[in-house]
Amino acid sequence: MRPVPDHEQIELTRAELDRLVAGATGRLAGCASGEELEAATSEVLGRGSALSAMHRALAQVAPEERPALGEAINAARRAIEEVVERLRSELSVRQRAARLQADRLDLTEVLPSRLPGHLHVVTRVWEELEDVFLGMGYEIAEGNEVETDWYNFTALNIPPDHPARSMQDSFYLDHGGGESVLLRTHTSPVQVHLLERGELPVYAIVPGRVYRRDTADASHLPVFHQIEGLVVDRGVSFSDLAGTIDAFVRAIFGSGVASRLRPAYFPFTEPSAEFEITCTICGGAGCRTCRRTGWIELGGCGMVHPAVLEATGVDSETWTGFAFGFGIDRLALMRHGIEDLRTFVENDVRFLSQL
Ligand code: PHE
Repeated sequence: MRPVPDHEQIELTRAELDRLVAGATGRLAGCASGEELEAATSEVLGRGSALSAMHRALAQVAPEERPALGEAINAARRAIEEVVERLRSELSVRQRAARLQADRLDLTEVLPSRLPGHLHVVTRVWEELEDVFLGMGYEIAEGNEVETDWYNFTALNIPPDHPARSMQDSFYLDHGGGESVLLRTHTSPVQVHLLERGELPVYAIVPGRVYRRDTADASHLPVFHQIEGLVVDRGVSFSDLAGTIDAFVRAIFGSGVASRLRPAYFPFTEPSAEFEITCTICGGAGCRTCRRTGWIELGGCGMVHPAVLEATGVDSETWTGFAFGFGIDRLALMRHGIEDLRTFVENDVRFLSQL
């Protein structure tokens, strides 16, 4: 037989019930964890509890007193249960806070060498380019990825029938009516924003994301990165442009890689050129990647068209300048001898951990 606990002899009175509720509340409130609370709960409410003993003692009470005392016992149980509920939720809030605190990562304490992984190769090339141009005294500007027709095309002297405007090439947004708002197709609209500030001279580069309606293949991605350069000052000449391109190409690729300019056409520069660098795959000897020419095209450039200066309120008699733009992804591709642009966005850890 189970030994009869002391409280089996407990007097069944309201005063005793009140004391019991107070005792149970104190016992429960002393619990520091969810587990302790559950253990204490079965102690004060379970079959072996004083409360249950009182319930059993009800059988010995005179029948006329039973309903009132029975109700008092139930009320005491409800009071204790409410305390349990309140403490349960308080403890779970506290335990969650403690867990979050313990899980918190203090990133200032993590040593870079112990960080898992590293910056993406495109990010690293992006940052290196920023360093090179900062070193040459350029500011780093930022633009908007969502542009209006004016900034992306019109102010850049791109006529309404230019193929870049077609639905096949640009992502238009259903905003602002017609084909007037789009995801920028190049970083050149930032030239317009920079000139509109009216603060001259300008020496700026603008790295950023651009969008075109291209199907991803080895040399195209619908979302990629460009870096724009803009210099507007008094007496800037084409040879300044050529020298600047040569300087950054050598800074990024080393002195073994040369650059050259070839005539080209862009509506917002005149004269315009494409700039090419020594093929990094064959070192200029001629291979499949460079189509046996020994040169790889990197981007476009030219002298800022007077129409662009005038569109932004800059006096084209006083100021001249050059601009250039090229793909950061493409540059990273060539520097690391990667064959397919898509590997940049596939997030295959075997590729990512190599570079
Ligand atoms: N925006 C042009 C492109 O995306 C590149 C360019 C920039 C050309 C600046 C000339 C001057 O192809």
